[in-house]
Amino acid sequence: MEKLVTRFYGVLLSIYIYNEYTGYMELEKLLAAINKKYPEEKEFIAAVRKHIDDERKHYMLFKNYFTKNERIPFFVSDKYGYIDLFVKHIFKVKIKELDQNSIINNNEKFFKLCRLIMMTELRGLKQVKTLLNNNLINKNESLLKIFKVIEKDEPSHCYPYQYWLKKSNSHMPRLRENLTDLWIHYSLMIIKVPFLLFNGKLKRRSEFY
Ligand SMILES: [Fe+2]
Ligand SMILES: [Fe+2]
Repeated sequence: MEKLVTRFYGVLLSIYIYNEYTGYMELEKLLAAINKKYPEEKEFIAAVRKHIDDERKHYMLFKNYFTKNERIPFFVSDKYGYIDLFVKHIFKVKIKELDQNSIINNNEKFFKLCRLIMMTELRGLKQVKTLLNNNLINKNESLLKIFKVIEKDEPSHCYPYQYWLKKSNSHMPRLRENLTDLWIHYSLMIIKVPFLLFNGKLKRRSEFY
């Protein structure tokens, strides 16, 4: 049993660290594009900056946890990245191929990306609340601490994108985006995460991100 619990922590945190890392790296590219296109939007820029700094902080919290336990995360592909999957469904490209500069020059595409980030953050908040009610997380004090930090930070992460959509009179997420969100969430929870949990051949990364 103890082994399975350790495995659960390992898989869960490997998915989290991948997502935090991808999140802050990709947001940096977006912020560079925003800075170039809308340098006068100081408030918007500061809010996105704060979002990136939080995601990097979360990444570091998980990294420290792994380091303390003398572990390197499992190898997790982009099929486990929430934002990767969202981008793939909506923009039909891999997140690494997303051209932030061309997106920002096309209002409709930029609104789409704002909605996508918003939904990812809302999902993240729901997810962390579920984890905080999970017995396995509650009995691990250092993990509980990490997830409480995330719970506190997460609500503000939607604000910059919500602000931008409202200011531009664009709409909030609609049916197709909501369905995509549900599909990604449930396929992860019901199929993909259990698959990792019981995949005996799952390798660890050779080094940290
Ligand atoms: Fe985060
Ligand atoms: Fe977040």
